[in-house]
Amino acid sequence: MNYPSSVKIIEVGPRDGLQNERTPVDVATKVELIRQLSDAGLSTIEAGSFVSPKWVPQMAGSDEVFALLPTHRDTSYTALTPNMQGLERAIACGVKEVAVFAAASESFSQKNINCSIAESLERFKPVAAEALKAGLTVRGYISCVVGCPYEAEVAGEAVLQVAEQLLTMGCYEISLGDTIGVGTPTSFETLLHRLLKNIGPDHLAIHAHDTYGQALANILRALQLGISTVDSSVAGLGGCPYANGASGNVASEDLVYMLNGLGIHHGVDLPKLVAAGNYISQKLNRANGSKVGIAMQ
Ligand code: HMG
Ligand code: MG
Repeated sequence: MNYPSSVKIIEVGPRDGLQNERTPVDVATKVELIRQLSDAGLSTIEAGSFVSPKWVPQMAGSDEVFALLPTHRDTSYTALTPNMQGLERAIACGVKEVAVFAAASESFSQKNINCSIAESLERFKPVAAEALKAGLTVRGYISCVVGCPYEAEVAGEAVLQVAEQLLTMGCYEISLGDTIGVGTPTSFETLLHRLLKNIGPDHLAIHAHDTYGQALANILRALQLGISTVDSSVAGLGGCPYANGASGNVASEDLVYMLNGLGIHHGVDLPKLVAAGNYISQKLNRANGSKVGIAMQ
């Protein structure tokens, strides 16, 4: 079986994880979590989200978080920006990489960002253009790539259409979000076979939520098909506020343990990562969502 020799891990816990936590997390705790993740060797950390605080109150302090982040020459801190207002906040905070986020399902697009898929893509065009002009890089997310909480089926063609438009507007990579974690290795294989006919594997990443316990299996299948960028969340934090029942992303600790077993380079120190997962789980007063995190305690 072929595997990539190295995998880039995008740590999304401080954003995708904390955006869905009931317990409010203060700015100092977020900054300390991100510091520990950076110290563990994670080179890209999604540190916050410049969305409407009315929609996602947990991300309201993102401006302060970015102002307090330690500068670390090996770590890039990224953020979500749904519109120009979000981009302006990101640029004011010195963010170097932003992400726009679309969906492959109309109902999820409406619930998440209050507009249709087509409207969202029109809205993202000037955001991406302005970001690129200001020297930032832009990533694109697509939610509900293999299933939606509000619609029965999501077609691979719908994912492809959105992905191609995001790439055309300047996104360097598309993160394929299984927002509610319903995918299986077979549904990801079908999707990837379709996308890889038009898009190179270097422009795709997998973003697997673990609601049905399939995330690691789905990631393994994606690696076998040539994908080498994987999103994950320390301690398996999170979910999505607009997808009931969505649990966290695959736990970063579990991903790193699997990559170690496969002999794939990733650059992360597992004991330090486990310590960061324990830190945030204690702060949230909840069980650690990583099996590896629990086993290594
Ligand atoms: P809207 O209500 O249609 O927008 O929301 P609006 O332009 O009419 O603005 C309404 C109010 O929000 C106004 O304030 C704006 O100023 C303010 P008011 O005049 O009422 O006082 N506002 C903002 N404030 C700060 N920063 C901004 C901003 N924009 C507007 N950037 C909007 C549209 C897109 C803003 C809203 O729907 C929103 O913020 N949605 C974000 C939802 C979200 O963050 N979801 C979770 C992230 S996506 C995800 O988790 C999936 C992913 O992980 C992949 C996967 O798993 O699938 C990425
Ligand atoms: Mg997500």
